[in-house]
Amino acid sequence: MIDSSAWQDLLAHHAQTGHQTMRTRFADEPERFQALSLQACGLLLDYSKNCLGSDTVALLLQLARERGVEARRDAMFAGDLINGTEQRAALHTALRAGEDARWVDPEISQAVADVLRRMTIFSAEVRNGSWKGHDGRAIRTVVYIGIGGSDLGPRMACDALSGYGRTGLDVRFVANVDAHELLAAVEGLDAATTLFIVASKTFTTAETMLNARSARDWCLAAGVPEAALRRHFVAVSCNETAVREFGIDPLNMFPLWDWVGGRYSLCSAIGLPLALQSGMEVFLDLHAGARAMDQHFREAPLQANMPVLLALVGIWNINILNIPTLSIAPYHHLLSRLPLHLQQLEMESNGKSVNEQGQRLAYSCAPVIWGQAGSNGQHAYFQWLHQSRDPAAVDFIAVAQTSPAHASAAGHQRALLANCLAQSEALMRGKTLEEVNAELCAGGMSANEADGLAPHKVFPGNRPSNTLLMPRLDAYHLGALLTLYEHKVMVQGAIWGINSFDQWGVEWGKSIARTLEQRLDGTTGRSATESSSTSGLIAAIRDLSQSRG
Ligand code: F6P
Repeated sequence: MIDSSAWQDLLAHHAQTGHQTMRTRFADEPERFQALSLQACGLLLDYSKNCLGSDTVALLLQLARERGVEARRDAMFAGDLINGTEQRAALHTALRAGEDARWVDPEISQAVADVLRRMTIFSAEVRNGSWKGHDGRAIRTVVYIGIGGSDLGPRMACDALSGYGRTGLDVRFVANVDAHELLAAVEGLDAATTLFIVASKTFTTAETMLNARSARDWCLAAGVPEAALRRHFVAVSCNETAVREFGIDPLNMFPLWDWVGGRYSLCSAIGLPLALQSGMEVFLDLHAGARAMDQHFREAPLQANMPVLLALVGIWNINILNIPTLSIAPYHHLLSRLPLHLQQLEMESNGKSVNEQGQRLAYSCAPVIWGQAGSNGQHAYFQWLHQSRDPAAVDFIAVAQTSPAHASAAGHQRALLANCLAQSEALMRGKTLEEVNAELCAGGMSANEADGLAPHKVFPGNRPSNTLLMPRLDAYHLGALLTLYEHKVMVQGAIWGINSFDQWGVEWGKSIARTLEQRLDGTTGRSATESSSTSGLIAAIRDLSQSRG
């Protein structure tokens, strides 16, 4: 990237214009919001509160062109093996393309449609009570076991769309290998009316498999006959052999494909909990929103392409302004889990330091993604956002309408939105020492007292944020929003020249953990490479776990 002429132009541009604050830009550019915002698929992206101008965007677009973003996008949609280290395609877009999409290989379309048909039948049966447990009673609770990409998306979507299509069915999630989560999920449940979904693309992920085995033991202990387990366990996976070995009938397995990365899998059968909770119609509405954003991404010119612009603003903040973190602040309580989903999406995809050819990069890639729902976050870490020495970028996500069921809560909605707008305004505008002093004196403080307090009340401002506005939180707009971020990540990966679709960084820890389990139970001794820290901690854990005093 840094060898490209567009990059050199961007550096020169920053050297010339970097002194201009957003505050002065807003004062000088009455049309700034119109120039630096756009709408697509019902979403509005306002990126005017960033330290850039239209001239900056033009240079960033040039960078995208020089880095072959369009060709990379087309290769992704064409099913090319763009995940080079695993020799796989990244074809999650085919999951929601619909049976008539001519750009998808007919065999793939067929396979996807078959799974959707099976999901439709299965979710209807469970929801209408015709899928019976071993003693003939209907299922009342679904416990979904999966981790990482097989958990974060469906868990977040079930929360977000919990107002839609609910029957009496309770859907719960278990990811952590810490038994507290599984025990809490099954507490008080009747095994005869409980259905477990074991979701693991590989069906080898240690945490998921241990939780699944414990769930099976719990069922058997609660009186479910072994021969009837098939009424209580279904799987979502690529690995039919392992599913069968675990004891789940392959007829109860919803297939996945190696061309769907975990963090991109919500539109596959990994989304089964959403179909069960809210109905297949809602799940297909999520597809429709995702499909609309896919189409926009494929067809809109780069300068009017929302994922491209969101990605470019990110590149500017990370690589030119050296802002290494992006806080996600959804101002909707039901989107509280969105920061976690986007954290995996961005950090597992682009948390890399070599390019596709394996050469070390001289620049940073994925930012640290963190955050929580507003307005709660304002009372936790927004102090740091406003006044720490280190600027962070923020994506505010706001929803214009409250749900019809909450019409009486209009006052809450107004307060929520006002808070959201206030934060981005304050981060952009800042407050100078002179302004604070004047305010304090106008409030009756002596000049001396004001001098002492004023520095503490200064806001540096000029802190960048995007605001994404959704008309309402429904499946269509959620699908569009999630897909926006998926494609943003792809565009950034293309510009950085990295493979966004592998995740080797998570593998080594898994294999060390396997060895350390044996160290903890004493079945193996210390290896030559084990540090004294780890040995000391193992000894302390063994001591402490034996002394219950
Ligand atoms: O450990 C990371 C990871 O490989 C993620 O990429 C993936 O989403 C998650 O584990 C779960 O994997 P699986 O679906 O195969 O259990």
